[in-house]
Amino acid sequence: MSSKKRILSGMRPTGPLHLGNLHGALANWVGMQDEYDCFFFIADWHALTSDYEAPGDITRYVGEMMIDWLSAGLDPEKSTLFVQSLVPEHAELFLYLSMITPVPWLERNPTYKDQIVQINNKDLSTFGFLGYPVLQAADIIMYKANGVPVGIDQVPHVEITREITRRFNFLYGNVFPEPEAILTKTSKILGLDRRKMSKSYNNAIYLSDTPDEIGKKVSQMITDPQRMRRSDPGNPDVCNVFEFHKIYSETGIWEAIDPQCRSAEIGCVECKKIMAESLIKAMEPLHERRSYFMAKPELVKEIITSGSEKARKVAKETMEQVRAAIRIKD
Ligand code: TRP
Ligand code: SF4
Repeated sequence: MSSKKRILSGMRPTGPLHLGNLHGALANWVGMQDEYDCFFFIADWHALTSDYEAPGDITRYVGEMMIDWLSAGLDPEKSTLFVQSLVPEHAELFLYLSMITPVPWLERNPTYKDQIVQINNKDLSTFGFLGYPVLQAADIIMYKANGVPVGIDQVPHVEITREITRRFNFLYGNVFPEPEAILTKTSKILGLDRRKMSKSYNNAIYLSDTPDEIGKKVSQMITDPQRMRRSDPGNPDVCNVFEFHKIYSETGIWEAIDPQCRSAEIGCVECKKIMAESLIKAMEPLHERRSYFMAKPELVKEIITSGSEKARKVAKETMEQVRAAIRIKD
């Protein structure tokens, strides 16, 4: 048995991952693989709570997401990588937890209240959508995870998980540890148009973009909006391209660009070319791993199957304890 602390996190397979996802979550997971006993999973049932009308897309995105993960450096030798629907025990635990979760806890969930108001192209007034945090609680405590690396938006869900855990332990005996959120720093990466990088804004650079596509997208990026002409001095402090430089270019490069931009010695076209080169170089190891796995679809399938079997072993043990605690079987 390893003495490492266990962490668990998941992502909904709703589309290809972009640099915002990489820096807001995935890179952080990759960095935790040696220190923690890691469980990472693709939450396809959670995707279904809102996208139940288009389930075909979800299945396709599951495979693509695993390739995104592997290309980013998640390693099936180190971490348990699995798919939620391949571990049906999650549904059973969800059912037991739903028996003890008061509906008002779910109705006052800020994410739920927001989404119900904001998303009006889908009917979210379903039982499954209200119960989203209960399924998430099942995901987390199934593996007795101590920590849940998530962004700030997911903190209310981890909080509900803690409440449900306490209630379960109080009613049936101490089966589960109370998990804690491990806050991920939010990504400073903005989209090409300076809004939050998002699939739905069509402003994202994807992990799967080729060097050519990256070059094209970078050339379309909005820079300092005050800098209209090449001869205008610019302000790197308000320029998104400069933010990218600080992440992807060597320090010497962007330190030199800073005064050149302010004095209009360098133009945005050239500055972007340099940044695109740095970004493409930084993405090279990801691109290499991607081509490796794209050429081996059987291997990717096998990684999904064996990771899910590994997870399922743990889940089965937990469910034995849960059924015994609830005295559903003797
Ligand atoms: N709700 C999470 C999200 O939208 C995904 C998720 C499902 C999750 N189950 C989880 C995250 C368990 C952490 C732990 O990002
Ligand atoms: Fe931004 Fe570079 Fe243009 Fe300056 S020169 S405004 S840092 S893109």
